Amino acid sequence: MGSIHLLDPLVIDRIAAGEVVERPASVIKELVENSLDAGAKRVSVQLEDAGIGLIEVVDDGHGMDAGDVELAFAQHATSKVTTLDDLDAIATMGFRGEALASIASVSHIELTTGTGAGPGVRIKMDGGANRHIEQVAWPRGTTVRVADLFFNTPARRKNLKKPTTELRHAGQTVTDYALCRPDIYVSLAHGKRTLIAAPPAATLADRVHQVLGAEVAAHWLPVAGQSGSLSIHGGITDPEHQRPNRNEIRWFVNGRPVSDYRLVHALVSAYESLLDHRRFPVSAIFLDLPVQEVDVNVHPRKAEVRFANPSAVYRAVRNAVRESLARHLPPVKILPRDVRSPMGSGESRELPVDEWIVAQGTPVAADEFDAPPAGAEISGTAGSIRPLAQYDNTYIVAADRKGLLIIDQHVAHERVLYEQVLAQIEARAVEAQHLLVPEMIELSAGEAAVVETQRDLLDSMGFALEPFGGNTWAVRTAPAILGHRDLGEMVRALIASLEQGAGPTALDDVRKEMAASIACHAAVRANHPLTREEMVRLIADLERCESPTRCPHGRPILVRVDHEELLRRLKRH
Ligand SMILES: Nc1ncnc2c1ncn2[C@@H]1O[C@H](COP(=O)(O)OP(=O)(O)OP(=O)(O)O)[C@@H](O)[C@H]1O
Ligand SMILES: [Mg+2]
Repeated sequence: MGSIHLLDPLVIDRIAAGEVVERPASVIKELVENSLDAGAKRVSVQLEDAGIGLIEVVDDGHGMDAGDVELAFAQHATSKVTTLDDLDAIATMGFRGEALASIASVSHIELTTGTGAGPGVRIKMDGGANRHIEQVAWPRGTTVRVADLFFNTPARRKNLKKPTTELRHAGQTVTDYALCRPDIYVSLAHGKRTLIAAPPAATLADRVHQVLGAEVAAHWLPVAGQSGSLSIHGGITDPEHQRPNRNEIRWFVNGRPVSDYRLVHALVSAYESLLDHRRFPVSAIFLDLPVQEVDVNVHPRKAEVRFANPSAVYRAVRNAVRESLARHLPPVKILPRDVRSPMGSGESRELPVDEWIVAQGTPVAADEFDAPPAGAEISGTAGSIRPLAQYDNTYIVAADRKGLLIIDQHVAHERVLYEQVLAQIEARAVEAQHLLVPEMIELSAGEAAVVETQRDLLDSMGFALEPFGGNTWAVRTAPAILGHRDLGEMVRALIASLEQGAGPTALDDVRKEMAASIACHAAVRANHPLTREEMVRLIADLERCESPTRCPHGRPILVRVDHEELLRRLKRH
C-alpha cells in the first residue's frame, strides 16, 4: 500500500507518444506539419529503411532561435496557441505542443535550426534524455532527423508492419500534404530512389498530375459546391478510372488531411451504379467551413474531425459529386433515377447517412463465402451437365439429371481460370508473355514503393515492371492468359493486394487475391455470344473445379431449378 507515486516525466512522454506516434508515417506527418506552420516553401523528406531507420525532414521555414529550441521539446510547449479562445479558432496544423516531445521520447532525434539572423543551433536527444545543445553555422530553416524509431519501446517496434506497408503509409502522408499545398515544393525519397518530386504547381489539377500521375489527371473531374457556410472544392476521377481500394480517397477539412468513413460513403453513393462492385474512385476534396463548425481536437493524431452538422456536410458532398459527374459524363451514362437507386425502384427518398450505410451494406470478405449457397450444388459425375442454350448472351441454360441450371458464364469462367491460375502461381509456373509494346502505367509513390519491394512476387505472377521515369512504369511481361486486357487496372489491383498483411498465411491470401484478379480480368464477359462448343468446354472445365458454385469473390455461379420443383410449380404433382 501507499505505493502511488508520480510518474517520471520521461515515462509520461513515452506513454503520450503512443497516442501521437504510431508508425514512421505519423512522425512524417508531425514534422511536415511543423514545417508548413513555419511557412516553409520547400519541404523534403528522406527515408531510410522505410522510415524506421531514419526520417529526415528539411524545410526552409522561419526556424527557431536558441531559446525556442530549448522549449520546443517540452510537453505542451507551443508557439501556436496561447489562450482558450485560440483553441476555438485554430489556424495552424499544430496546436497541442506535443509532437516533438513525443517523437523525441521514442527515437534518437537531432534538430538543427536557424532563423537566418546569427548562428543556428543543434539539439540532440536519445529517448528524450541526454540533451545536448550546440551552436552551428546554419541558414534559415529547420532540419529534423529522427533515427531508429521505437528503439526503446520494443513492443511498439514489433507492431510495425512490413517495410512495404510502412513505406506506403509514408508515401500516402507526403502525398496528402503535397495535395494540400500545391504552392510549395514537396519531395520524398527512400534511399536513393525519389518517390515524389513536386515543384510548386499553379493548380490542384497540376499537382494531381505531379503526384498521382498522368492517368489520374486525365480522368480528373473538378468538384465545386457551396452549401451555407460550407464550401467544397477539389476533384474526383470519372468512373472510367476505378481503384480496388479506398486508399486514394482524400479529404481535407480547413486545409488539414483527415479521414472520415462517412464522407467516403457520401462520395461512393454519389457514383451510384457507375462504379463496379467493390471499386472506388480517386479523389481529393477540400471542405472549408467556419472554425466554430468543426472540432479538430478529437483525435490524438489529428486524423479525424467532428462536424457540428455532419448530415448537412455529407449531403453537400454527395450533391457536389453528383453534379460534377452529371456535368462531365454524357447523359446516356447516367441511368434514370429509379433504376440506379440502391433502394430499388419507385420514389427514392433521401436517407440520412447512417441509413445509407446500412442500406448499401459493407463489402463482404472473400473467405466469408466459402460455404456453397443452398440448393446450388453441382451433382453427379463430370460430363453429366448438358448445355441447352445461351440466354441473353450472358447465361448458359443447361440440364443435368436433377433439373435445370442457369449458369452465369462470366462467373463460371472466372472460377475455372481462378483455380488454373492459382495452381500455376503455386507451382511458380505462370506462363508470362513478353509484351511487344510495353504497357505504360502511372503509379502513385505508395504503389511504386510496393513494386520496389515486391519484385520477386510480381515476377512469380508473370508481371515484370520497370521504372520509366517520373511516375511512369513499363509493364514488360504479363500472364499470357490476360493478353493486353485492362493491364493497368490489373497491376493496380495486384499492388493493392500485395501490400496487405504479412507472413506466410497472408502470402497465401495474396496469391489467392491475385489469382482472383487475373481470373476476373481474363474471363469471358457478359453479353458475349458463345458457341455450343464453347459452352460444352466451359461446363466441362467447371465440373472439374474444386468449388464449382461460387466465384473467387463469392458470387454464386449458378441457379438451379430442380425437376421436383418444376413439377410442383407447374402443378403436375
Ligand atoms: N520546423 C519547424 N520550424 C520552426 N519551428 C518549429 C518547427 N518545428 C517545431 N517548431 C516549434 O516547436 C514548437 C513545438 O512543436 P510541436 O510539433 O511539438 O508542437 P505544435 O506544433 O505546437 O503542436 P502539435 O503537438 O499539435 O504538433 C512549435 O510550436 C513551433 O514553435
Ligand atoms: Mg507540431
